[in-house]
Amino acid sequence: MHEDFLKIKAAVESCTLCSLSATRTNAVFGMGFPDAEIMLIGEGPGHDEDVKGLPFVGRSGQLLDKILEACGFNRKDHVFIANIVKCRPPENRVPTPLERETCIPYLHKQIEMIDPKIIVLLGATALQGLIDPDAKITRLRGNWLNWNNRLVMPTYHPSALLRTPGLKKDAWEDFKKSGGEIQGTCKS
Ligand code: URA
Repeated sequence: MHEDFLKIKAAVESCTLCSLSATRTNAVFGMGFPDAEIMLIGEGPGHDEDVKGLPFVGRSGQLLDKILEACGFNRKDHVFIANIVKCRPPENRVPTPLERETCIPYLHKQIEMIDPKIIVLLGATALQGLIDPDAKITRLRGNWLNWNNRLVMPTYHPSALLRTPGLKKDAWEDFKKSGGEIQGTCKS
């Protein structure tokens, strides 16, 4: 891994800029291929992620891996996965605007270094954290957006797909669009 990338990782892992640092077990920097063409961004670590120090390792992560696999991708070789906030909000509550704003420079640096062709935003917090605090996921999902001259695709969070399986069809269309921009391998 590039030296600067390791420096950001070390900074995240020892960060005490907001109060989430006081209750975390591990900060979750993110994981995947540092030169990935596609970057996935979630909300923040949950219980399992906090324990393991890795993103999306619980139930929603298993679903995410299945979706990625159906697109011909895996975490190690094709994507980088990160979150808007790097530490678990207690009781898995949504991160506050202050927590988001305090943490977002780390994500901006990660995006700059990974330099992905496409960013997939998983759910409302990712959409609001990166693009617009007032944006609605139900309105914008499936539509290409632009962030600093990068293609951004908002879609539903995997945990929303677990709660409401009827949303899977739309999410699958969003992933097919995203995969199509890279290598077009998502099975229809
Ligand atoms: N949900 C998220 O948004 N991110 C994770 O890393 C895990 C669950």
